[in-house]
Order: sequence, then structure tokens, then C-alpha cells
Amino acid sequence: MVKGKANPSAAAARDFSARLRRWFKRNSRDLPWRRTRDPYHVLVSELMLQQTQVARVLDYYARFLERFPTLEVLADAPPGRVMESWEGLGYYARARNLHALSKQVTGPEGTGTLPAHHEELRKLPGIGAYTAGAVSSFAFERRAALVDTNVARVLARVFAPTLNPKRPRDLTQLWVIAESVLPRTGAATWVHNQAVMELGALVCTARVKRCEVCPVRTICGTYAADQKRSKQLVKKPVRKRKAPTR
Ligand code: ADE
Repeated sequence: MVKGKANPSAAAARDFSARLRRWFKRNSRDLPWRRTRDPYHVLVSELMLQQTQVARVLDYYARFLERFPTLEVLADAPPGRVMESWEGLGYYARARNLHALSKQVTGPEGTGTLPAHHEELRKLPGIGAYTAGAVSSFAFERRAALVDTNVARVLARVFAPTLNPKRPRDLTQLWVIAESVLPRTGAATWVHNQAVMELGALVCTARVKRCEVCPVRTICGTYAADQKRSKQLVKKPVRKRKAPTR
């Protein structure tokens, strides 16, 4: 567990990632954006999934890519048509930025395709640290970290229960932890990052902790603390000494 500024040990990091990846292979949802490595398709899914439930995104994702199957088609589309395809998803800046990005990348100054490196991705409109990590690892299978609300919660609960992901300073520390627990290869990083997100969505949620089915409970700081607390609660009350008989 992380105390102060120390990161998880190499052994804890390996154990965490291996357990998660094994669990993911048996328990993950079959989602369309997990079947593609097309960077543009991955980007569309990741932008839609920010602030929006998976069930809702499924329809929008399919429809959007039918209408705009490539960055070039999107760049040529009138803004009204793009916004109309986003109608109902909310947070419309995401769609406006995506449209601007498609024009920039496919325009005369652009390279025509999305870059693989997260630092290059971050220079594009609407791409923050999370989205850059997601596109780099999910489309290009690069060894890039990502932290969104779900990932921050999982990492904090497992490795650093005293950190509060809502505090910017603590969030920075969670990014450091996210980097430190990445597996060695890019291919394993794809699974690892999907798995942390999946655990946050299905098992270690904001509302409930389903520790009984969690693959990393044996190394989880929050689980250990919860167990200790509940053991103390059921401890037999101290017997009163009998009053001395006269
Ligand atoms: N939310 C953000 N990215 C996701 C992904 N790749 N799978 C499921 N939920 C997500």
C-alpha cells in the first residue's frame, strides 16, 4: 500500500496487473470499441463515454460511425450534421472539438492520421490526459497510463486509501501510481487499462464495493481496513467481572 509518496512495490504492481488481466479475460463485456484498433473509432468511443453511460453510448457510437466512418468524412461534414448526430449525448463541446480535430488532422497542415504518442495526441483539440492515454493504449497498444474517475477510485482504494481523487494534488499522485502499475508490454497494457476500467464499472463502483468477487481484494488496502473494522465490531464484548461474593 502507498504511504506518503512511495509507489506500490514492483511485486505488488505485477500482482495487481496479472490478477486484473486474468479476471478481465473471463469477466469483461463484449463492447464494440474493444473489437477495433482504428484510432478514430477508439477516439469517438472514448469521447462519447466521458460523462455518458455505456448502454447509451452503444447506439450513438454505431450511428455516428455509420454516418462518419473516417476522419476525412467527418472533416467534410457540415457542423449541423455532426451536432445533430451528438444530439441527446450532452456536453456538446466534445462534438465540436472532435469536428475541429478531424479538420486539423486531415487538413493541409495535418499528418492525415492520429498520432500514437500520448504527448502528440494531447496537442489536438479536446484531447486531455485521459483521452490521450486511452487512444494511445487502446488503438496503438502503447504503454500509456490513463486515469479517469473510475480508475482513480480503484487505484486509490487498492493502493492509497488516504488519497482523495477529487483533490488535484492527490489526483497527480494517482497518475504516478497508474504509471507505476502498468505491465511491461503495450499489448498487456491494452488489457490492463481496459481491466481497471471494467473493475471500476462492474465491481469496485462508486456506490458499492463488491469485494467478494474482486480479483485484487487480497492486495487491497481498503479491503484490509474494512475487514479489520468488521472483525473489531464482532469481537466478543469484554465480560464483566463477577461481583465478589461475600
Ligand atoms: N469508459 C471509458 N472507456 C471505456 C472502455 N474502453 N470500456 C468501457 N467503458 C469505458
